[in-house]
Amino acid sequence: MYFDNSATTLHKPDALKEKFIELLNTNDLGNPSRSGHIKSQNSMMGIFQTKKDLAKLFHIANPNDIALTENASFGLNFVIKSLVKENGHVITTTTEHNSVLRPLYQSGAELSFIDFDEKCNVDFDKIPELIRENTKFIITNQASNLLGNVNDLDKIHAYAKKYKLIMIIDIAQTAGCLDLDISKYPNSIFVFTGHKSLYGPSGTGGIIKNGDFDFSNVFSGGSGVNSFDKNHPLDFPAVFEVGTSNFISQIAMDASIKFILDEGIDKIHQHLKEITKRFYDGIKDIEGIKIYSKKPEGEYSPIVSINLKDMESSELALILDEKYDIQTRPGAHCAPLIHEHFATEAQGIVRFSFSYFNTDEEIDNAIEVLREIAKEY
Ligand SMILES: Cc1ncc(COP(=O)(O)O)c(C=O)c1O
Repeated sequence: MYFDNSATTLHKPDALKEKFIELLNTNDLGNPSRSGHIKSQNSMMGIFQTKKDLAKLFHIANPNDIALTENASFGLNFVIKSLVKENGHVITTTTEHNSVLRPLYQSGAELSFIDFDEKCNVDFDKIPELIRENTKFIITNQASNLLGNVNDLDKIHAYAKKYKLIMIIDIAQTAGCLDLDISKYPNSIFVFTGHKSLYGPSGTGGIIKNGDFDFSNVFSGGSGVNSFDKNHPLDFPAVFEVGTSNFISQIAMDASIKFILDEGIDKIHQHLKEITKRFYDGIKDIEGIKIYSKKPEGEYSPIVSINLKDMESSELALILDEKYDIQTRPGAHCAPLIHEHFATEAQGIVRFSFSYFNTDEEIDNAIEVLREIAKEY
């Protein structure tokens, strides 16, 4: 039973596998945005179709407001390194992943962190008291990779608008889990990854912008246009699409996006909420189990983070894996400030994270297994 879907989803739609095989067998795909011949154009059109379906999923009018990158880390590095300057001030949170924190640290900008409370909620009403003269950005995730929370983007955006901040949202853990209407958020940038809840191949992700931004080059190289210019083009998406992309995977990813569109994001969302609550309710009274993540009420993401008494998280995950064939993620989760908050730097945390393909039966089995392990320990 695979419950490490927040790291990457293992079970992909059949349509993705079929599309991959079809693409690998075809001799029709040249280097996109180079050469101009029919095989090059085929790849360009394939990539554009993926962007068109992503635009539909995220409710944006123009597919060219999407730049495809290798994953969310690349996207976040591009956006943060391109826009955030040393003399600026950024409001962010202690729930961020290292792919937000590290580029922010590297930027040298002044940073203010909003912490989360005992219900795993981040209080964005603290934004007004953190505003400085040089505050330029609010950068946060829509859901953390450990807490099971879902941040209220309407509220964050209302503050961003009031204080003229650019809103940058890391949707690595939520893209494909819930309906997200990016058209509602002018002056914002969203960064997604393809291999998690979008059920796409690894090596895919991207940046979606709503508005015009003064992007600068982070990487420079082949662009297929303006070859005599000493600088890489600054227009979007070319500014972040440097060199030959992972185009087979990007084209294949369209099958996953279409799967989500066909299945219906609300149906996916509902199933994820149901199985997460089922798991949470099933384990919450097991003696010795400590749950760190949010109680599944209102909005929440498909993550339940736990420990068993003082057992090292890696030991629990090893027992689950070796004895019961249950895969979870132990240890430190690339979200160091969350571990500091919970004082779990040494013990780590065992994360159960669910996908649309997980069933009630699997959830019930995992609950029974945890009950058994807890009894023995
Ligand atoms: C909240 C969050 N942001 C960013 C990332 C980085 O995603 P990727 O590994 O696709 O670069 C992750 C990955 O786990 C994540 O959980």
